Amino acid sequence: MNYKNRRDQLLDLVRTQHASYQGPIVLFSPCDSAYRSFVQESNFYYFSGIIEPASVMVISQDKQVFYKPAYTDTRAQWVDSAADITQNNIQEQGFDDLQVTGKIFPSVHVYPYFDYATYENITALLSDLIRDGKKIFTIYPSNSYQAIEIRAVVDRLAQVIPNLHDHIIDISAQTAQLRRKKEMVELELLYKAAEITANAHQAAMHMLKPGRNEAEVQATLEFVFAEQGACAAYPSIVAGGPRGTILHYSTNNQPLLDGQLVVVDAGARYNYYCADVTRTYPVSGKFTAEQKQLYELVLECQELVAEQAKPGMWLSNKDEQELSLHHIALNFFKKHGYEKYFTHSIGHFLGLDVHDVGDVSRPLQEGDIITIEPGLYIPEKQLGIRIEDNYWIVDQTTPVCLSEAIPKSIQAVEEMVQQSFDVDL
Ligand code: GLY
Ligand code: MN
Ligand code: MN
Repeated sequence: MNYKNRRDQLLDLVRTQHASYQGPIVLFSPCDSAYRSFVQESNFYYFSGIIEPASVMVISQDKQVFYKPAYTDTRAQWVDSAADITQNNIQEQGFDDLQVTGKIFPSVHVYPYFDYATYENITALLSDLIRDGKKIFTIYPSNSYQAIEIRAVVDRLAQVIPNLHDHIIDISAQTAQLRRKKEMVELELLYKAAEITANAHQAAMHMLKPGRNEAEVQATLEFVFAEQGACAAYPSIVAGGPRGTILHYSTNNQPLLDGQLVVVDAGARYNYYCADVTRTYPVSGKFTAEQKQLYELVLECQELVAEQAKPGMWLSNKDEQELSLHHIALNFFKKHGYEKYFTHSIGHFLGLDVHDVGDVSRPLQEGDIITIEPGLYIPEKQLGIRIEDNYWIVDQTTPVCLSEAIPKSIQAVEEMVQQSFDVDL
């Protein structure tokens, strides 16, 4: 990945779109916790490739500087995260300089309520910019759910930097614009995530039989993720029978019964790139006639939508319904009398985040990666069915399905599940 090139592109975009303001781009990584593994914030990762908490990038036309906390050497005895950030390897990533965020920090983790001395140099730098009437271009969206951990760093610094918020200009839209169009090297990682996910679903299918617990299926999926250098991109869903109607069910602790369907929504995250795939399997290895009819409806809907997923179409646009993938799905289910059972949207962008950034008010374009995930959730029949795949929007032809290796025809699914019954697992 050419991270320097990405940062340069971001500089160009921000300069063009905010021509009347001056100031550097300042990107923060989240603080740390001793009780869960550190996950880098997606924008920080996209523009640096560096997995290090409590760090800061200061990017301007003439200089790009990486700041890390001034840990003592003993930190390496405790954590394996990028303790080897050196002047040399930072220059390989296209930075001009490596500096420290503040005073020597004698502990191992920088927690969200950090001591201000830890960020003393950053505080001085931001205060100087404010004094000089400059702006600070950073990720600070106004919604309630994005970039929370890095907004927390800014908010903490604002306690000691008067008027900090007044000088911030949010650049989430510009970072999203760059991240939306995937580069070839990103495509390779998305393919790899889909391949690992295919292996995991295959193992999960072989696990199924009446009496098996949802937890065992989840463990199988996540064993394959871990064994192949990945992890779960989001909480895996293994939802038997009526629990299949709960869209974000993840307790995964109930027995799977003969005659039930099980919704398995699980995807790998590989080198930070995500897959998001759902299959619905018959626990007994055979769909009932009614399950088969509903399953085929969902599959037909997915095929209909996928055929039309090309540049110029929208993921969802209520004013242009014939160009809107969501409304094509909704109208398909309506025609068959099932629209009230399709209770979520048809899909989303996919990338470093499972629900990746991207402006949904603009139509699809080449290089987009999306999910297409129609589903029917019918509490009175105690069943849910979802089929979800990951697609690469290429040109005016049908999109490329990254997850096509995972069987989904009735016959293939039944055969795969039945194969496990001959093996005593
Ligand atoms: N697994 C989350 C989703 O399908 O959007
Ligand atoms: Mn999804
Ligand atoms: Mn999903």
